Amino acid sequence: MEMILAPSILAADFTKLGEQMKETEREGAQYIHFDVMDGKFVPSISFGMPVLASIRNAVDQIFDVHLMIEEPIRYVEEFQKAGADIITVHLEACSDVKATLEKIKACGAKAAISICPDTPVAELEPYVELVDMVLIMSVHPGFGGQSFIPSSLEKIRETRALLDRVNSTADIEVDGGIYTTNVREVLEAGANVIVAGSAIFRGDAAENTKNMMEILRAY
Ligand code: DX5
Ligand code: ZN
Repeated sequence: MEMILAPSILAADFTKLGEQMKETEREGAQYIHFDVMDGKFVPSISFGMPVLASIRNAVDQIFDVHLMIEEPIRYVEEFQKAGADIITVHLEACSDVKATLEKIKACGAKAAISICPDTPVAELEPYVELVDMVLIMSVHPGFGGQSFIPSSLEKIRETRALLDRVNSTADIEVDGGIYTTNVREVLEAGANVIVAGSAIFRGDAAENTKNMMEILRAY
């Protein structure tokens, strides 16, 4: 299974966003992680479709769009049209999770489901066969720069066991508080897609991406 790095541009310097994205692409990061926040599902507000559309052609990376918004089914089609390759919705934010995941796939994007730190892995069971990826939040969604919640490791292991049980080939993405110092234990627990915002964009994005990719490639 390929180990994938998904730099979260929430932490990027928006005065040179395109340049920083290209730096991560040159150093091998396969995804760009795009954090959409509506100020309702999470207490912060970030960016949306116009920003996504404006940066889509800056790089060839896969756009991994993380919708931290209430009732995301309303915007799935617009995000796919704006350039989303993968659309992740929160189990806690959908009144009809199955319909939302099916809508994502009907629009031509890959579907992923995410759970917050306080949501048990067991709640994913009815949906794992519908998704291409599961996102385990290792921080409470809404802000970059938080500390990794250690109990997330057990949730990653539980998720890997659940996917194996149903013979799913879905990826496991982990998001929040991941640095070169703790990424190995996240991979060891069973994740293969790593989101990193502060670890990449605080300081030299090219150097940080290179260092993180060295660990992922060596795993
Ligand atoms: C938080 C977002 C994360 C965050 C990661 O709600 O979903 O993607 O931007 O940022 P770091 O890597 O700084 O924790
Ligand atoms: Zn995210």
